Amino acid sequence: MTETQTIAIQRTAASRLAEVDFATVPFGKVFADHMFVADFRNGEWKNLRIIPFGHLPMSPATPAIHYGQAIFEGMKAFRGGSGEINLFRPLDNWKRLNISAERMCLAQVPEEIFMDGLTALITLDRQWVPNTPGGSLYIRPFLFSADEYIGIRPSENFTFMIINCPVGPYYSTPVKVCIETHYTRAVAGGTGYAKAGGNYGGAIYPAKLAQDKGYHQLIWTDGKNHEYIEESGTMNVMFVMDGVLVTPALSDSILAGITRDSVLKLARHWGMKTEERKVSVNELLAALKEKRVQEAFGAGTAATIAPIELIGFEGTDYYLPPVSERPFSGRVLREMDAIKRGQQPDPFGWIHKV
Ligand code: COI
Repeated sequence: MTETQTIAIQRTAASRLAEVDFATVPFGKVFADHMFVADFRNGEWKNLRIIPFGHLPMSPATPAIHYGQAIFEGMKAFRGGSGEINLFRPLDNWKRLNISAERMCLAQVPEEIFMDGLTALITLDRQWVPNTPGGSLYIRPFLFSADEYIGIRPSENFTFMIINCPVGPYYSTPVKVCIETHYTRAVAGGTGYAKAGGNYGGAIYPAKLAQDKGYHQLIWTDGKNHEYIEESGTMNVMFVMDGVLVTPALSDSILAGITRDSVLKLARHWGMKTEERKVSVNELLAALKEKRVQEAFGAGTAATIAPIELIGFEGTDYYLPPVSERPFSGRVLREMDAIKRGQQPDPFGWIHKV
């Protein structure tokens, strides 16, 4: 156990809070007043600090910029009924950050630094947690190599940071997605299970091609034969087929989503049958044609549950039932939200109060 390190706090001289309307704030563009920073130098974490949100001084030779040695997390804080702040499953994000760090050869972030930095930052910026219906504070922890070296090797210096954005809904309407059978998000043996920046950067171009055709996002298939469904956009994908909650089983090309896990746990808690297994494109298409897919949605931190309106494949769009006729995802969304906002008991121990 390392000794607890003090976090130095430098408060902003000019809070921007009064300029923000939480009811209309766009996703990811408005940042809370402060950010947390920790440096890994000479084999140890040091210089833990909270400073005003602002630009970073960094070497142009930083490997994070050249080689994508950078990972991130996405998590949320919610305002509870008596004004308390509820963090949703923060330790799961901490664990996943370190799984990604191992894959990308970055230093492990100790639990204490992650949780103490997060708690101190949220405490300082607690007024930035929206109290609007559907509002939350999106928390973005991230870790990157901070060497000044243009060769390729495991780095020696790292920076861990947390920045926050007050947000409303990520998607305002149900999403139109199309099954991608040419481009690949991740392959077996690759970095798909890590929340590595490059996984997202490489997905933008194929997603843009789909957007040009009127879709919001892609349904990714496996990188070998494009035979099996993997994820949807930046989320896990889940279906209710023949009354069973079905989602692709985790693998090294699929991110272990915390929302995905929460949906599965709630479904099992309610006695619903769930299956984590391979889902082939053919199986999904057959079920769509036979109207056996009652619900389809993306599950992720930013969007929580993103209902899928239609799934495109080779020029044909297969429509799902209207969102108002989807009892499972509606209930998941309501009950998960009630747990997060402290309006309902938390049988799973998901909430961490600040
Ligand atoms: C999240 O849901 O937290 C994500 O990672 C999506 C993000 C890329 C906006």
